[in-house]
This record gives sequence, structure tokens and C-alpha cells, in this order.
Amino acid sequence: MVSDNFKACLKESELKEGQMKGVRVSGKSILLVRQGGQIFGVSNSCPHMGCSLEGGILSEFIVMCPCHGWKFDVRNGNYVENDAITLESYRCKIENGKVYVEIKDGNFLSHLGL
Ligand code: FES
Repeated sequence: MVSDNFKACLKESELKEGQMKGVRVSGKSILLVRQGGQIFGVSNSCPHMGCSLEGGILSEFIVMCPCHGWKFDVRNGNYVENDAITLESYRCKIENGKVYVEIKDGNFLSHLGL
């Protein structure tokens, strides 16, 4: 059973090993990366000047921003030069042939339907 916070965003077959893909889930732009048999989710917006990381280069677990070359580890979102700068990370899972991303709802009242 998938918890309510996990949202289906694409078919598992649409993201092959060693590939990355940008998706929009609940209004957030998220980069999904399939590497080492796992799926990682990080913000698709570079904290330097906001370029989309989807057009960058993936090498192992490191994605390089296409604009000015900043590199991030998709396992934890850390900028490799300075881990004080991070991309937001999202837990992902595969279930029933689909990829799910966990979107935590920061709005407490929405859980109450308010
Ligand atoms: S916008 Fe990503 S490195 Fe500059």
C-alpha cells in the first residue's frame, strides 16, 4: 500500500537505468534519476541561477548543471563543492510498474481538510 504522500508521476518503463527525467508533481519541478537500481528525486532547479538540471550531464550519481557546471550528488542533493548548498531531495519508490515521489505537505491544516 502506497502512503498518501507518494504521488505517481510516470511509468517505471519511462525511466531507464542511467537516465534522468524531469517531472512536475504537485506543482514542483523534480528531477528523477535512475542509477544503481534505485530512483532518486531532487529539485530540478539549480540553486545557482535556476537552470533546469534535466538538460545537464549525469555521471554515476553526479549531475552537472548545463549552465555553469555546478555538480550535485543526486543521492542527497548536495552541491559537491560545498554541502551547505543542497537541492531539495524527494524519496521515490517503484510500485505496480509506476514511479512514485513523496511530496510532504507542509500545510498542517490541509490534513484536516481545511
Ligand atoms: S545555473 Fe546551474 S551552475 Fe549556474
